[in-house]
Amino acid sequence: MDERLARYTTELFAGEDEALAAIRSRHASEGLPDILISAEEGKLIHVLLRAVGAARVLELGTLGGYSGVWIARALPATGRLVTIERDARHAAVARRAFAEAGVADRVELREGAALEWLAQLPPGFDAVFLDADKENLPAYFAWALRLLRVGGLLLCDNAFFAGAVVDPDASSPAVEGVRTFNQLAAADPRLVATIVPVRDGLVVGVKVTD
Ligand code: SAH
Ligand code: DHB
Ligand code: MG
Repeated sequence: MDERLARYTTELFAGEDEALAAIRSRHASEGLPDILISAEEGKLIHVLLRAVGAARVLELGTLGGYSGVWIARALPATGRLVTIERDARHAAVARRAFAEAGVADRVELREGAALEWLAQLPPGFDAVFLDADKENLPAYFAWALRLLRVGGLLLCDNAFFAGAVVDPDASSPAVEGVRTFNQLAAADPRLVATIVPVRDGLVVGVKVTD
């Protein structure tokens, strides 16, 4: 999206409070990669979760907890976000973020590789947000559809992967993972989906049948 329009949207609709701003700036001070979602993407995810009345949400790729706070704040007090993070240093920063944002009681942070945790989760999630490694996206697609309830939301960050999906010279395992995921999301009869061109592209889909 055009930088000025992203700023316009953020200023009008997606202003960060102190907690979110502190989490964002901690990525630089703690040396975490600058790959967190944007405020307008966070607000979009938050609105979508409220629209489906989400109470149980699964996230792959916690990083410093920024997207997790946008998600957790969309849930009722009895709601739960299960978020999975492989990097122990990232997880430690995220725990602090959830505590400071006052949502720690609604968040279960699981440390380890996503594929190992996925096999242990009970189905019935209202939404799944995929934002971890891109190589495993085809496997994450299969797990997400297994774990989502009918009417649940499938959300996946980096649908454009900085434009690499349409670059004929790009063929890394990560790019291929994103391309394959997008093709699956577009064609699977259990899902109705599209890409919202916010930041790096967000796949938004609804599971319509088992
Ligand atoms: N959702 C976050 C950004 C996530 S960045 C936000 O917007 O705030 C991607 C994260 O996924 C990184 O922290 C990385 O350590 C983690 N990750 C990468 N591969 C993973 C895997 N296989 N299992 C779990 N986490 C993984
Ligand atoms: C990358 C990963 C992300 O999840 C993201 O939002 C931006 C970049 C990356 O691996 O380059
Ligand atoms: Mg991402």
